[in-house]
Amino acid sequence: MKLTYYGHACFAVETGGKHVLFDPFITPNELAKDIDINAVPADYILVSHGHGDHIADVEAIAKRTGAMIVSNAEVSEWFGKKGLKSIHPLNHGGKKEFDFGTVKAVNAIHSSGLPDGSYGGNPLGFVVTTKEKTFYYSGDTALTMDMQLIPRYAKIDFAVLCIGDNFTMGYEDAIEAAKMIQCNTVVGVHYDTFGYIKIDHQQVQNAFKDAGIQLLMPRIGESIEL
Ligand code: NI
Ligand code: MN
Repeated sequence: MKLTYYGHACFAVETGGKHVLFDPFITPNELAKDIDINAVPADYILVSHGHGDHIADVEAIAKRTGAMIVSNAEVSEWFGKKGLKSIHPLNHGGKKEFDFGTVKAVNAIHSSGLPDGSYGGNPLGFVVTTKEKTFYYSGDTALTMDMQLIPRYAKIDFAVLCIGDNFTMGYEDAIEAAKMIQCNTVVGVHYDTFGYIKIDHQQVQNAFKDAGIQLLMPRIGESIEL
C-alpha cells in the first residue's frame, strides 16, 4: 500500500485505485509549502476531529475533487452546511464499508471544537481494513487503554501515530500505543510543525529502536510503500 505524507498529521493512502486522504492541513503549514493542494488527489477525506490543524484544506479539496468527507456527526454536518454534499457521519464504535475498505471509528482522548466555535463532537481514531493492509490512525490522542481493544478485532499491519507531545502522545506513549495495538511498524505524525511539538529525531528514533519497533518518518511529499 502506498502512503504519501503531506506534513503535520496529513497523509494519504492509495488502495484499490482510490485515494484516501486524512486530516488535510497543508496551505497553513510553512513546512508543506511545496505541496500544491490542487494536485492532491482524493476520493475520500477522513477527518479525525474539528481542529484547524486537521481540517484547513478539507473544503477546498472536497470541492475540487468531490471526495466524500468521513468524520464524526458534528464535523461532517458542519461541512454539509458549507454545501458539501458528499458526507458520511460515523461515531465511536461504528464501522462502515466503503469501496476501498471498511472504516471503524475508535476512541481518541482529545478535544474537537471547530474553528468558528461550533461544537465539534468527540475526536476519532480510525481502523481501516482494506484488501491490501489494515492500519490504525490514532488521530490526536493521549495514550488510552482503549487501544488494547483494537487487536481483538483487527490485525494491524502499520499504525500512523502522533509522536509530537504537548497536544498529543509523545514518542514514549506512542511506543506504548504500538505495543497495545501489537504493531511493529509506525509512521510518526503531528511533530515539528509548531514550536510546541518540535522533537529530537535521533532521540525518538533511538527510543523506537530500543523498543524493537520500526519508526518511519517520511519527508513531506514523500511516498512510501507499506
Ligand atoms: Ni487536535
Ligand atoms: Mn492536532
